[in-house]
Amino acid sequence: MKTSSKTILVAIGIVAIGAIVYRAVNTAPPESMPADERIVKIFEDGGCAECHTADPALPFFSNWPIARKVITEDILNGYKAFDIIPMMEAIKNGEAINEVDLAKVEKAVMDGTMPLAKYAVIHWGSSLTRPKTDMVLAWISDHRAKFYPNTLAAAEFANETIRPVPDSVEYDPAKAALGELLYHDTRLSADGTVSCATCHGINTGGVDNLKYSEGIGGQLGGVNAPTVFNAVFNFVQFWDGRAATLADQAAGPPLNPVEMGCASFDEIVARLAEDKAFAKAFNAVYPEGLSQATITDAIAQYERTLVTPNSPFDRYLKGDKEALTAEQVKGFELFKEYNCATCHAGVNMGGLSYELMGQRADYFKDRELQERSGLTDGDNGRWAQTGIERDRFRFRTPGLRNVALTYPYYHDGSVETLEEAVGMMAKYQVGKELSDENIATISAFLRALTGEYKGETLVNDNMK
Ligand code: HEC
Ligand code: HEC
Ligand code: HEC
Repeated sequence: MKTSSKTILVAIGIVAIGAIVYRAVNTAPPESMPADERIVKIFEDGGCAECHTADPALPFFSNWPIARKVITEDILNGYKAFDIIPMMEAIKNGEAINEVDLAKVEKAVMDGTMPLAKYAVIHWGSSLTRPKTDMVLAWISDHRAKFYPNTLAAAEFANETIRPVPDSVEYDPAKAALGELLYHDTRLSADGTVSCATCHGINTGGVDNLKYSEGIGGQLGGVNAPTVFNAVFNFVQFWDGRAATLADQAAGPPLNPVEMGCASFDEIVARLAEDKAFAKAFNAVYPEGLSQATITDAIAQYERTLVTPNSPFDRYLKGDKEALTAEQVKGFELFKEYNCATCHAGVNMGGLSYELMGQRADYFKDRELQERSGLTDGDNGRWAQTGIERDRFRFRTPGLRNVALTYPYYHDGSVETLEEAVGMMAKYQVGKELSDENIATISAFLRALTGEYKGETLVNDNMK
């Protein structure tokens, strides 16, 4: 035999043995292992925590190879994109995993992007083989069914990351009726000129369509006003998440000097108490009487009525194939393909996590270059509340329900059109360039997210 053919044979032999060893090393955990443990094992073997935690040496990653084999940049970018700890803790405690985390992992596993290829090359047994991939995807689907049962959707859409808006959420009608009055009551402001509805008009999509809102004396705020419609589905309120509940949130504007400007709730209580008829009606529902707690509770009860079911997209998810145009169906597919449905997941298509604005490109630098504006306090996002550097420029993701009505867009209100907002999301959050055609297609889909309020399609009088 010639030397060259011997070499070839030896090479083939090495590759064959390599493949056998690789398969042996990289087998999926046995079915006999409890599902949660299997997943933890797959993630451990996959080295996920090496790049997705601030500190990989945590107790429940017991058999973790802590050696810093991975280049620092990957760890930085990995941890910037995804913190795996809340998910691992939820698994450990048998609790619900955040829907956005589930969606992100599902997408990364489906696309085969994780663990990063260069990592899998060095770490035998880390890559997600077909059996492992199937195991993770089945487990995610089971987890969703258990913790986020999607009873409204047609069977084929039960495992989507987005769920239809329910027709209503539970609320107390008597309290909500008082809340509706208070929501529209300018006596909640120092000079009697501003109510909640001034900035969150019920007939203007729950927003004011201004870059920055105008409070008492014409003062401007520093961030764009999000909509009150479907806010009940957000996991926290405000761009920086500083209010845990709707009632907490409602305590903010009345005392905010540039919004309603009152010195204290006592001032508001005194003013409302002068209105004998109102006070009587209020005390009948809240025997404890007017106070910050009862006023904000009533407003929060009213806000629970501000849900907008039955958008064309919701009807489609429920099984009405005719509800969307062919273009909108294509837009929904693109919305998923380009990762949009990971951060914009759940009932409100967002509102469930804090996300870095500028995940894949520097949004703030570009904004400054275009002389839109330098950095403002509002740009700090979640950092303003935690002081943790990772939280800087991270925002409570906005929901996309009724997004066609809620322009201008982003926390800084700097983007006028839906098309522009979509194209910029692809660039800054997903790291992809969208063609004009795909931008138009996704935007057409987003226009199918306008729901119904009190049985009528939600309108925005500013658009007439
Ligand atoms: C070598 C480091 C490294 C390892 C190991 C790794 N990742 Fe990542 N991961 C990254 C980086 C870097 C990103 C940022 C996006 C990118 O560059 O593709 C990322 C992004 C992600 C995201 C966010 C998705 C997105 O599109 O932004 C998820 C979810 C994720 N990884 C899950 C995993 C899971 C699950 C594993 C284990 C099976 C894993 N990663 C292993 C580095 C890593
Ligand atoms: C002067 C305009 C103005 C007034 C008046 C006002 N808001 Fe807002 N609202 C805003 C702005 C701006 C934000 C965003 C602030 C932030 O995130 O820091 C906001 C945020 C909210 C949010 C959070 C939504 C989300 O997605 O995070 C809710 C809910 C809300 N307002 C309800 C109310 C209620 C209830 C009142 C009356 C008690 C009220 N607002 C009064 C401008 C206003
Ligand atoms: C990594 C998470 C993430 C991904 C992926 C993502 N978004 Fe966003 N989206 C955000 C955040 C955060 C904001 C708020 C940004 C800001 O205010 O500065 C936002 C804002 C938006 C807005 C403006 C909403 C408003 O009311 O201001 C639209 C529209 C939008 N996203 C659409 C999309 C589309 C389409 C895609 C896919 C191409 C996408 N997003 C992908 C996190 C994400």
